[in-house]
Amino acid sequence: MSNNIKVAIDGPTSAGKSTIAKLLAEKLKINYVDTGSMYRALTLKVLNNNIDPKAEEDVVALAEKTKIDYFENHIFLDGLCVDDKIRNERIDKNVSYVCQYRDVRKRLVSLQREIASKSSVIMDGRDIGTVVLKDADYKFFLTASADVRAKRRYKEYLEKGLEVNFDDIKKDLIRRDDYDSHREVDPLVKASDAIEVNTDDKNIEETVELMLSYINGDK
Ligand code: DC
Repeated sequence: MSNNIKVAIDGPTSAGKSTIAKLLAEKLKINYVDTGSMYRALTLKVLNNNIDPKAEEDVVALAEKTKIDYFENHIFLDGLCVDDKIRNERIDKNVSYVCQYRDVRKRLVSLQREIASKSSVIMDGRDIGTVVLKDADYKFFLTASADVRAKRRYKEYLEKGLEVNFDDIKKDLIRRDDYDSHREVDPLVKASDAIEVNTDDKNIEETVELMLSYINGDK
């Protein structure tokens, strides 16, 4: 393994990307960057400013005067940590509008590349293997059925004490994936050189071990 490695992990909503990427980063002792949290942080600001997420010009103008950082597993919006404000249904329902705009993506992709240029990194998102880190050393595409993914998200929200409805979560997840996969700019698509890993029948440890075996060259 080289000294400066880049690992790209893409896939649909709730396929387990961030949990797995975090563990993998710990095992490899490298940094982890959750790019979805950056789009979520901007969405939080859009909503808090009463801007319509469907109003491209307004969203882009706001993005231009917004500072977003990802540092040591925490997301910062204009200097404030917003970890506990970006994972809820309000953000879920609006983030796919905000992340579809070319100028929003340009800004965040360049920030993500800048972070990745500094050290070894594992990044997860939707366009990491196809756009952000096209030349990544390892690319994975994590998938799971919509039912399994909705159950995971439902459990996550219940554990946080949020009031949620399983059918609403599943419907929204399918809608979002459809939106992310069909948007014009950098849609969610498996890179031709990515390894596809289906996590339906694998727990987190098994998935991490499988991915590690690819990285260590045992596979
Ligand atoms: O992974 P997540 O659910 O936190 O992502 C939130 C939203 O951001 C999701 O709708 C897809 C979008 N996203 C994106 O377009 N590109 C990325 N690199 C990461 C996330």
